[in-house]
Amino acid sequence: MLMFREKISPEWLPKLLANLPAVLVDHAHLERKAATTAMNLEKYRDLYHRVEDLNAIAIEELQHFQLVLALLKRRGIPFGQPYPSPYITGLMRSVRNGQRHQAIDHLLSCSLVEGRSCEKFQFLATGLASIDPELAEFYGSLVESEGNHYATYLLMAKSIDEAETDRRLDFYLDLDAKLMREPNPLPMLH
Ligand SMILES: [Fe+2]
Ligand SMILES: [Fe+2]
Repeated sequence: MLMFREKISPEWLPKLLANLPAVLVDHAHLERKAATTAMNLEKYRDLYHRVEDLNAIAIEELQHFQLVLALLKRRGIPFGQPYPSPYITGLMRSVRNGQRHQAIDHLLSCSLVEGRSCEKFQFLATGLASIDPELAEFYGSLVESEGNHYATYLLMAKSIDEAETDRRLDFYLDLDAKLMREPNPLPMLH
């Protein structure tokens, strides 16, 4: 995504390519959490009128979850334990209290996670092309959808309060950059 202030670490892609079974299990959980997150956003008063749009995202994420589970099954990889992502936890910890502030911060955090997923799936598609074409195609096929989620969440936040969203986006882009610089030894997407 163009707006990000920190590049993906050069160690990230090789670490993931060397641990694909663990990456796929982590990815399955990421899609599961994305589906539940879309539905969690429906609790905000400012988003009541977007409940159908949020359901549509939840359904799409659940379909992604199913696709990853099918890949796991085909490859004989057992579905397993989720690991908390320091990046996602770091973003979510900064969500403020208070209906409207919380809705905007939650949407912005989700938007950045989706944007990073979009960016990272593109990296994976490229990195996997010569070593695992099936997986490369799979990651390539998800890029557009995650990019749409990124944009949808950002626009939802702006439609609640554009000036406040722009102010908080500046904060969140700095936080994203800081969290991206923190090393995570596990082969995780985020
Ligand atoms: Fe997804
Ligand atoms: Fe998504």
